[in-house]
Amino acid sequence: MADVTDAAFRFIIAKYGKPDVMWTEFVSADGLCSEGKKALLHNLRFDESERPIVAQFFGATPEHFYSCALLARELGFDGVDINMGCPEKNVVKQGAGAALIKNPSLAKRIIEETKRGAGPLPVSVKTRIGFNAKEELSWIPALLEAGPACIVIHGRTKKEMSLVPADWETIGRAAELAKRFGSSSEKTLIVGNGDVTGLEDAAEKAARYELDGVMIGRGIFGNPWLFAGLSPSKEEKLRVMVEHTFLFEKFFKGIKSFDVMKKHYKAYVNGFRGAKELRIKLMEAKNAEEVADIVEKNVMKV
Ligand SMILES: Cc1cc2nc3c(=O)[nH]c(=O)nc-3n(C[C@H](O)[C@H](O)[C@H](O)COP(=O)(O)O)c2cc1C
Repeated sequence: MADVTDAAFRFIIAKYGKPDVMWTEFVSADGLCSEGKKALLHNLRFDESERPIVAQFFGATPEHFYSCALLARELGFDGVDINMGCPEKNVVKQGAGAALIKNPSLAKRIIEETKRGAGPLPVSVKTRIGFNAKEELSWIPALLEAGPACIVIHGRTKKEMSLVPADWETIGRAAELAKRFGSSSEKTLIVGNGDVTGLEDAAEKAARYELDGVMIGRGIFGNPWLFAGLSPSKEEKLRVMVEHTFLFEKFFKGIKSFDVMKKHYKAYVNGFRGAKELRIKLMEAKNAEEVADIVEKNVMKV
């Protein structure tokens, strides 16, 4: 997730509750193939502890996906993912993200070029169930024809943004289509995504809809223990929040705004007496030292 699961947060997740696989934030394929490349590379840093780790790119230029897949190999990634689901205006107007749902022939060329660049690395696609309306019956088979190793399906259309509950019945239908498609040696894995916040729910949905996996996005906010199935104490939450903050500063000082950390504070500091007052103080913090200081005073007070 852009400006959420950066290298600092993924390091924390890998340490406290590692999932089976993680994806980077999406990075512009056009940007990486321009003079702006150097300024974007921080989005592709990762630590060995995060493996397996997949690099995600967005764009609408097949040759740029070829170059980005080569770059992902060079950098040592374990897989390459193509974003075909982002509903943001500035992404869609480039013909990228969810706009590719309306352009299956370009989507296929992008998958082919990415596969060519990725060589032995698996190529996955992250998408939605349609653009304006549900169109899984045509869109998913179009993707399957290009033979990605995996399709991650977010159970909403582009038009629905995040305004309605994810439609898992449609995700299930897409999984059904994938099962019937192609030869058994080249089966595309289907992973469902949308509104899952816990491991039990994920396992239940994977079983009910016969999926190969479930991706969790927002559920990880403020909860890097999610995949370990742990519920830490308030003190532990605050300790890790401070650790996360120092790591963010170490990796991104002068590169990313410190405000990126503020949405993490809203998520970490929740569900205990005094949380609101502490959040308000944290919103004023300008660096990791100040955050540590605020937290230390708060914990001593309780
Ligand atoms: C802040 C934010 C940033 C996101 N950035 C990305 C991204 O870079 N790439 C991507 O494929 N999806 C991105 N998404 C979408 C999520 O991956 C996911 O599909 C969506 O939030 C629904 O799943 P969830 O209910 O588990 O969060 C983002 C979502 C949020 C809320």
